[in-house]
Amino acid sequence: MTQTYISDIASKAGGEAEIKGWIANFRSSGKLMFLQVRDGTGVIQCVTSKKEVSEKAWEDARTLALESSLIIRGTVNKDDRAPGGYEIWVSDLEMVGASVDYPIAKKEHGDAFLLDHRHLWMRSKKQHAILRVRHHVIKAIRDFFDDKGFINLDAPIFTPNASEGTSTLFETEYFGDKAYLSQSGQLYMEPGCAAFGKVYCFGPTFRAEKSKTRKHLTEFWMLEPEVAYMDLDGCMDLGEDLLCFIVEQALKRCQPELETLERDLSRLECVKKPFPRIHYKEACDILVKKGTGFTPGDDFGAPDEEALVEAYDRPLIIHRFPADIKAFYMKCEDDDPETSLSCDFIAPEGFGEIIGGSQREDDLEILESKIKQHDLPRDAFEWYLDLRKYGTFPHSGFGLGLERTVSWICGNRHVREAIPFPRMMHRLKP
Ligand code: 4AD
Ligand code: MG
Repeated sequence: MTQTYISDIASKAGGEAEIKGWIANFRSSGKLMFLQVRDGTGVIQCVTSKKEVSEKAWEDARTLALESSLIIRGTVNKDDRAPGGYEIWVSDLEMVGASVDYPIAKKEHGDAFLLDHRHLWMRSKKQHAILRVRHHVIKAIRDFFDDKGFINLDAPIFTPNASEGTSTLFETEYFGDKAYLSQSGQLYMEPGCAAFGKVYCFGPTFRAEKSKTRKHLTEFWMLEPEVAYMDLDGCMDLGEDLLCFIVEQALKRCQPELETLERDLSRLECVKKPFPRIHYKEACDILVKKGTGFTPGDDFGAPDEEALVEAYDRPLIIHRFPADIKAFYMKCEDDDPETSLSCDFIAPEGFGEIIGGSQREDDLEILESKIKQHDLPRDAFEWYLDLRKYGTFPHSGFGLGLERTVSWICGNRHVREAIPFPRMMHRLKP
């Protein structure tokens, strides 16, 4: 008999099937044992009766424990009362691996304990659901760009320079030289879009974030599209279309997971175009009126973002931030060098900034002076300046933080649960 995955069990209704998995739960009532078996694709109840199986199999069934691994063969019965709609009447049961005192019990555990056991915790229902949503969000992102003719052009992880400021750089030794872990693939997507028109990279990025918040990881995944001849408006349109597509796909493909997570679907269903778009100055006025203690000219903190987005049921786009609180590569308004052509997308319900983007400086002289102003080593940027020497062109792009997006879709407050093995200031294990 060949293995059937629980997700495909309907195809075996009325017949025999073999499943391979782990014990998620069990109870016994004398001569019957009810085993909840999971295999990663689903959970199914397997009913084992003493008189239907061999003595050895019954003995095995009686000694199994939470997360023992086993192979089960039996008849698949459709049963509307069973969770999942099917159950298996066991004819044979074979233990594969024992599991003694599985550390994650059904009771509540503290955060630190669960994170220390992340390698096991990801088997738990809620964590499993979040990571499945992550998978579908990744697929939606790739489908979105691939279907629009973008080329996936990946960026290096070892880089010779900073792109998002020097305060969050991870430095590493590189054959006697210094290298930094990439904070963003953007600088490499810019030459990419000159070669291919529209490109994206999607990979891990690194920030030595010394802040311990629910929204910051030191290693997170970022999706970064970059498009030649696209301006700031085009950039906002692209981000808007992308988020609508991601939400739509999640609603279509992740119903069981969102149900497990008790996500209020109505909060996702209203994520439709157009998203509200407000100028940075308008955002400042709103915050001053609300009296949140915000100082105009500053960047928004989490409470400011929450106060701004609370009026909306969909992501809020804030554009044209002051140049001096944004990165060196952003282009500014033609008639106002203090205002950058930038945009941030703030997710509703307090999930924070999920997209940051801009139009890029395409004037050689201005860019040279910005590099100087930001005290960046010109050497490391010679290649980047070349783009402004050989056929400069307007272009724009953005970065979407995968874990924040997944947290928002799942309605889960902490980004550390939206990545298989989170890396944070005080966490490098497992
Ligand atoms: O706004 P950021 O810093 O933008 C850039 O890095 C640009 N170079 C992107 C580009 O234009 N190609 O980061 C983009 C997004 C943020 O909006 C946020 O969602 C996420 O990346 N992000 C983080 N997510 C988790 N942990 C962190 N420490 C993050 N820092 C940024
Ligand atoms: Mg940002």
